[in-house]
Amino acid sequence: MRKIAGTVRTPARRIYLGPIGLELGYDGVMSGFQTTDAPAAVAKAAQSDPIELARQRLIVALDVPDAKSAMRLVAELEDTCKWFKVGLELYVAAGPAVLEPIVARGHNVFLDLKLHDIPNTVAGAVRSAAGLGVRMLTVHAGGGPAMLAAAKAALAGAVNPPELLAVTVLTSMDAGQLHLIGVNRAPSGQVELLAKMGLAAGIRGFVCSPLEVAAVRALTGPEGVLVIPGIRPAGAAIGDQKRVAGPAEALSLGASYLVVGRPITQAPNPAEAANAILEEMAEAL
Ligand code: C5P
Repeated sequence: MRKIAGTVRTPARRIYLGPIGLELGYDGVMSGFQTTDAPAAVAKAAQSDPIELARQRLIVALDVPDAKSAMRLVAELEDTCKWFKVGLELYVAAGPAVLEPIVARGHNVFLDLKLHDIPNTVAGAVRSAAGLGVRMLTVHAGGGPAMLAAAKAALAGAVNPPELLAVTVLTSMDAGQLHLIGVNRAPSGQVELLAKMGLAAGIRGFVCSPLEVAAVRALTGPEGVLVIPGIRPAGAAIGDQKRVAGPAEALSLGASYLVVGRPITQAPNPAEAANAILEEMAEAL
């Protein structure tokens, strides 16, 4: 174990990727990616290549306004990246049909709708989303214990259900923003409270900022599927994000997956930018 910025670093290779991950030697990981069809020797080589390991853990946020722009990015990035996140901007504009060609091309899709409503409504939305072929789905932990339990229960019996992730505190929120919505606790305390609430509801997947990932990992143990936005590679603009870290640091602190949007999608050459991030991630693997 090494110490970084006062936090105990966990070996990044021992983090559980959930039932959605390729078996790469992580604790209790199962298969699920296209590469499982590769000949055994090729698959084995990929298991020890840090860039390949990094590739399985990088999610590109397709925060674009229409399906055409999304598919242009997927085409540019699909040799470099295996995961794509469809969030509110794209989903509201293009609807569930936008998911089909991405799933059909063999990619893993994270549907980031951050559902937050009464339990019955969220359960219905989760059931609908479970049929879309996506591998991850988000709800807001702030919806409360009853909503989280209803979301979890809605996936019971689903065939090949997505990993349900509870969003703790948005990475764009800091103590000042939390105060303004009546939360007079530091972001870290609020994240821990919400993560415990999710665990109590039977959820093991969480979205939190790099600054809280070590604390959430301590709560979940190796089985937690921790998906971390707010990633900024060396030299990238921070934008509206407030609680950020670099790719290698986030992995070392316990992240399972990293979500990166603008540093890749707004780069002059997105594939080049993604490759640079994979290199940074590989340092921690
Ligand atoms: O462009 P950038 O890398 O900041 O994009 C981060 C992505 O992660 C966005 O799609 C945003 O919606 C998402 N996200 C986040 N903070 C959370 C949960 C999701 O930034 N807590």
